[in-house]
Formats: sequence, structure tokens, C-alpha cells
Amino acid sequence: MRITIVKDYDEMSKKAAEIISKQIRTKPDSVLGFATGGTPIGTYKELVRMHKEEGLDFSRITTFNLDEYYGLGPDHPQSYHYFMFSNLFNHVNIDPKRVHIPDGLAKDVEAFCKKYEEEIKKAGGIDLQLLGIGRDGHIAFNEPGSSLTSRTRLVALAEETIKDNARFFEKEEDVPRFAITMGCGTIMEAKKILLLANGEAKSDAVAAFIEGPITSQITASILQMHPDVTVIIDEAAASKLKRKEYYKHVDRLFRDLEKKT
Ligand code: F6R
Repeated sequence: MRITIVKDYDEMSKKAAEIISKQIRTKPDSVLGFATGGTPIGTYKELVRMHKEEGLDFSRITTFNLDEYYGLGPDHPQSYHYFMFSNLFNHVNIDPKRVHIPDGLAKDVEAFCKKYEEEIKKAGGIDLQLLGIGRDGHIAFNEPGSSLTSRTRLVALAEETIKDNARFFEKEEDVPRFAITMGCGTIMEAKKILLLANGEAKSDAVAAFIEGPITSQITASILQMHPDVTVIIDEAAASKLKRKEYYKHVDRLFRDLEKKT
């Protein structure tokens, strides 16, 4: 796990966009996994800027989103469909046919989830998966207690997550109680993973998933078993890491080495 600790949200977003744009430039037909929520908004803004000012080309990119609220259609302003199109896809030259987001209105949810998994495989697997993390240590909507080998499925949201996400809705009762989400097992099959976190509110979850035991109580902890994870966090989110100075030291050494090669 490569851990980069940055000053603030802005620096986190710029560094994340750099990694994603490098992936796109090196492999123009990459399959990218995207996340929603407050964390990646700055990253998407920067990717839009790179498209407009530097010609970053999304025309051959395929995408799969982590999750979608169950019961919300693509036109609902709080759906993850709506989020992705308004924050990224409407502003870059992506082919909408190559965009995949779980269908919150799927009638046969089980069949839909099976098909979603098959589509990821058919596309050749996810090259780079972007992740945020919940305060309870969740990745995608894999709440505490989710199997660490779980696949795409219908899940119930934890109370903490409902409360956290209420900020995007008019009132807490409006937050859907269910979601369709990629599983931990699905995420673990991505070739590379990039996890972002900012703010003090994430500091316990960050310390737990990096330095704690691998446990289904903190589903992000399964990332300790993945061979290619980059974590970019700001100082506030890193504040409870016991070995913070060590991670900074390692990151500095690698940065110097990369400059020379
Ligand atoms: C969103 C997702 C979630 C969020 C997490 C953090 O697609 O999968 O796991 O990444 O809940 O949300 P924010 O970024 O709003 O703090």
C-alpha cells in the first residue's frame, strides 16, 4: 500500500486526477471504476479541466460505478447516475454507451447484479478503481459485516451512512435505505485501486483500515490484501495513523527515486 499524505482536499484531488489521467494516457481504452459522494468531486473537476485544457481523451474509456441507491431512477437529482453525469460525464467526451452504473430501478435485482459482474468481466476487468471510504470503514456500500468476498448485490445502508448522506437530501427520511453495490470481492479484482479520504471525520476509519486487523467490521481493511493500492489522504484524515511519519518517509524516498528514473 502506497500512502501519500497531502495538505488538503485540493492537493488530494489534484494528485488523484494526475493518477487517473496517467492511466488514461498510458491506456486510452482503460476500464475505470468510479465512486460518488463528496470526496471525488474535486478529482472530477480536475479531470474536466484536463479534458478541456489539455485534451485528455475519454472517447475510448469504459466506466463502471460502484453503486446506486435502490429505488432512484437516473433522473433523480440524488441518484448516482445524475451525480456522475453532472459532475463528470456531461463535461468530457465519453461515449455514454460505455458508461455503466447499477440500475436503481432494476426489477429483477439478482439478475441485474449477475449481469453487472459479467459486463465487468467482458470489458476485461477494471484497470483502476477509485474509492472513497465511509466513517464506518465501508468501501462502496459494503457496510460493516459484509462478506469480504461479496459480489454485486442489494444491501441495506447502515444508520451512520443514512445520517452522513442525509446532507445531500432535503431530509433524512428521503435517503434510500437500500442500494445496489459492487462487493468487496468485485473491488478486489480491480488491477489497481486508488482510495481517497479527507477530513477529521474519516481519521478513525483511515487508521483502522490501514493499521488495524483485516475484518468485515471495517470492509476497507480487505485492501491490505490487494497488491496495488494507492491511498491519498489529507493531514486531517491521517491524524490518527500511528506510523504517519514512516509513511511520509517512504513516500518521499519513492518520489525522489521516481524523479531520477
Ligand atoms: C460512493 C461510495 C461510498 C463513498 C463513501 C464516502 O459511490 O461508494 O463508499 O465513497 O460513503 O462518501 P463521501 O465521499 O461523501 O464522504
